[in-house]
Amino acid sequence: MDEIHVIGGNCLHGNITVQGSKNTVLPLMAGALLYRGINVLKACPRITDVFYMEEILRALGAETWWEDHDLYLDCTHADGSHVPEIYSGRMRSSIILLGPILARNQQAEIGYPGGCVIGKRPVDLHLYVLRRFGAEIKEEEKKITVSCKKLCGTEIVFSKRSVGATEQAILCATLSKGTTTLRNCAREPEIVWLCRFLNAMGAKIEGAGEDCICIEGTEKLCGTKMQIPADRIVTGTYLCAAAATRGHIVIENAPEGELDTFLQVYRKMGGQYEWKSGKLIANGAGIQFSVPFLETEAYPGFPTDLQSPLLAVLTTVPGISRIRENIFENRFKICSELTKMGAHIEVRGSEVKICGSRLKGCRLRAEELRGGAALVIAALAADGESVIEGVPFIRRGYEDICRDLRYLQAEIYMEDILSV
Ligand code: UD1
Repeated sequence: MDEIHVIGGNCLHGNITVQGSKNTVLPLMAGALLYRGINVLKACPRITDVFYMEEILRALGAETWWEDHDLYLDCTHADGSHVPEIYSGRMRSSIILLGPILARNQQAEIGYPGGCVIGKRPVDLHLYVLRRFGAEIKEEEKKITVSCKKLCGTEIVFSKRSVGATEQAILCATLSKGTTTLRNCAREPEIVWLCRFLNAMGAKIEGAGEDCICIEGTEKLCGTKMQIPADRIVTGTYLCAAAATRGHIVIENAPEGELDTFLQVYRKMGGQYEWKSGKLIANGAGIQFSVPFLETEAYPGFPTDLQSPLLAVLTTVPGISRIRENIFENRFKICSELTKMGAHIEVRGSEVKICGSRLKGCRLRAEELRGGAALVIAALAADGESVIEGVPFIRRGYEDICRDLRYLQAEIYMEDILSV
């Protein structure tokens, strides 16, 4: 069992290249099922969620292999239609496989999706999407069964912006009969990347990144190679790590244009940044101003996935800050851990009030992915040593957080406590 050890207090500095985006690659892996042949995802992050999705595709009959960070997906024989609960229970995004499996096999069966404990995370919008395309759905205690002879293009007006449900609809529409119009779509960069990937495979999708997406169904796709963009959330996490230590770092491949709302907050806190030849140079030496009020919102608003990392930074900034979480209701679980470090935090429903102070190192437990990364950030800023348990949660989305932070001169290492 691994633990992360951090000796806090080092001011981070140096250059780093960020891994490929988790939330981009997972729907692309699902999309690969739409073509009976090979697709290649280049610069793919080697993280647990990608390995889980790879296992699911293999269970369906795909052949997969890696060449360094390039992931090859051969779905020629991926004709399985059943994703057992043992796989789907491990990750939330397994639900987006329903559409592609259905498009391919006229039926699909999946155990209820699992994932991080950040909130209720219902799947009603996904099922609504499938029904709109003509699918019949049977919900049982442990599994969802879906069937449909031929998916038919449709019009969908989403009652709520959902990244996953928008992706589900795009995946269903690609090989369906006729035209599909989607309104009130999620506008996250991951949606744009999914549409670029599918269009490179021969799909006909317009409007990605906008409120309304139109898809002309097509009969046949081809294989493609796609470079996975840098992960905007990992980029934001490392910017927060540097900010918490008032460090100065350069992100060599930061995804320009995808972090604007975060960078506005960074600047308001006293941080400075500039873009130079595709690099993001961020200087957190002047970070000293609290954030009177911030709320998480669908893109282009402040991302819920960076709420916990920012919260960790704000525990070190003098004055009072307030955050409201609007997307996932259980994202303040880390507050009790941060309090152990001496942080002054009050949680009231979906709002948190933070009064900046010094933190001290201690033993901490990660219970979900981004909260786990936030604990690492707090530990980097704290006096003394911290030990963080629950490392598997962090590995779901960070290829090697210790290696990356060591590049930035942090004193951090992984220890396998069973082998000592
Ligand atoms: C994706 C990201 C996740 C990010 C989230 C919001 C992936 C693999 N995960 O998750 O990292 O935190 O976007 O940016 O890309 N909802 C429903 N019914 C549904 C589906 C969603 O009510 O059927 C609700 C959710 O509970 C949440 C909101 O819609 O309150 C947005 O969730 P959604 O955008 O769907 O998140 P995910 O796609 O699961």
